[in-house]
Amino acid sequence: MKKNKIFIFDTTLRDGEQVPGCQLSTKEKIIIAKELEDLGVDIIEAGFPISSPGDFKSVYEIGKTIKKTIICALTRAKKEDIDCAVDALKSAKKKRIHTGIGVSDIHIKYKFKSTKEKIIEQAIQAVSYAKKFIEDVEFYAEDAGRADNQFLAKIIEKVIDAGATVVNIPDTTGYCLPDEFGRKIKYLKENVKNINKTIISVHCHNDLGLATANSLSGIINGARQVETTINGIGERAGNTAMEEIVMIIKTKKNLSFETNINTKKIYSISRLVEKMMHMPIQKNKAIVGENAFAHSSGIHQDGVLKKRENYEIINPQDVGIDQSKIILTARSGRSALKHKLEKLNYKIKKENINIIYKEFIKMADIKKNIDDKDLRQLMLKINSI
Ligand code: KIV
Ligand code: ZN
Repeated sequence: MKKNKIFIFDTTLRDGEQVPGCQLSTKEKIIIAKELEDLGVDIIEAGFPISSPGDFKSVYEIGKTIKKTIICALTRAKKEDIDCAVDALKSAKKKRIHTGIGVSDIHIKYKFKSTKEKIIEQAIQAVSYAKKFIEDVEFYAEDAGRADNQFLAKIIEKVIDAGATVVNIPDTTGYCLPDEFGRKIKYLKENVKNINKTIISVHCHNDLGLATANSLSGIINGARQVETTINGIGERAGNTAMEEIVMIIKTKKNLSFETNINTKKIYSISRLVEKMMHMPIQKNKAIVGENAFAHSSGIHQDGVLKKRENYEIINPQDVGIDQSKIILTARSGRSALKHKLEKLNYKIKKENINIIYKEFIKMADIKKNIDDKDLRQLMLKINSI
């Protein structure tokens, strides 16, 4: 069966970079942009050019450097923003403008102090204006997650008529449940008459820890582009993590989706972004956390040593990690201890393992994590008994 291609739109350098402490210089952004291109992302959102001269320069320089990937620049639905983005994108070989406006009642009333009619007009104007300069125009309906579906469908239909090539449906505040968000995408598929002229994109935030689940629900219901960041960094609780959505697609073959991502490069870019953006990855983070492929309980260790798939649904090598880790603690069993000792070249006779294990447990209760040095000490002690 032919698989549906899911486009990966990376916004690490825009939504990710706007997080306090994550700011990068142009040079650093170029390093990450090159790695994103190597990784195989389809679109790099390089910045928000009108926000600062530094961001303008970064978009320009990234556009000059990157050869194959589409370079995208963010704007509000304002002429001056679009003019600035068009200038910043001058150097790019393949380019996209990402323009949009808030569409929820709360944004329309309190952020814009406007009306639904005026918001639609501004959206049409912005897309039509951007279209004069750049063919590829993505429209974002900010806070679509909390917007009324009927109004959302109306504005989306109008911006497609105005030339939007991609329509982005962001759950800006991370408010939706997966099933609710999926129904929103389905509603647009079924109620926007020109929807097939465009690609639906999803851009989900993680305020309730549902960004990845919501993005997945979006693509199951018809979206074909997902907006992600490396390690899920982004405003507040962050965005959909690239590594999560890509590995879901790779692991769950029955979904019949595919991406262009070279998954073997996931781990290295994850660590690069962690270091450059000063955003430590939590140890139990899916796919790229230090413990994502570490086994410490005796039952799991025994199972993994018998056959890796007993406790791993992903081969660590698929994401660029050499091998899973067996961590020795007081919860570990004999088979993990024997495995570790043999890796250190000790020949363990069956009849001796119980004595060694007894001493090991005494040590592990005091020391918590037992490393190679501790094991050598343990064996010295055993040999002297
Ligand atoms: O979260 C959001 O709605 C955004 C838009 C600017 C796309 O980041
Ligand atoms: Zn966002």
